[in-house]
Amino acid sequence: MKLKIVKDSNPIMRKRSLPVEMPLSEEDKETLDAMLDYLKKSQDEEYAKKHNIREGVGLAAIQIGLLKRMFVVYFQDEAGNQVQYQLVNPIITETSLRKCALENGEGCLSVDNEHHGLVHRYYKIKMKAFDALQNKDIEISAKGFPAIVLQHEYDHLNGMFFYDHINKNEPDKRLMNEEII
Ligand code: NI
Repeated sequence: MKLKIVKDSNPIMRKRSLPVEMPLSEEDKETLDAMLDYLKKSQDEEYAKKHNIREGVGLAAIQIGLLKRMFVVYFQDEAGNQVQYQLVNPIITETSLRKCALENGEGCLSVDNEHHGLVHRYYKIKMKAFDALQNKDIEISAKGFPAIVLQHEYDHLNGMFFYDHINKNEPDKRLMNEEII
């Protein structure tokens, strides 16, 4: 399956994705596998250069043109552990009062333009979803960088981009209770 990344100039990216029918179809499983494979390859410097693709840690179905509430993530957490999920119909069940933002802002495979500024996120979240990798319902407790990645991908299911969270007037201004990581 060859994936083509949809860019933010395409109005479909602003649409709300629809719930995925369960149990998961073989087709949806194959799509999730292809999406995870894409992320892994994107982190292989040689492959990425050769195929002119950018490195990514998360990919939502809408980014390959499918209006389905599912996304994959593939990254190392702060302790150096490999984290990977294929999440279907995720919901955020808890958020912290504390906020956080990445010091150097966020990027997105669908966004080619630079968007400077702090992207304000919850520092900690809990997320429930079906994980197709483990083939079961799971609850994830995440804080810091992993929580940011999950929120970024979750936003795509609701037609949002990271730059929607940047204060246009004061892009570098920290919130109260915000940790910059
Ligand atoms: Ni993105």
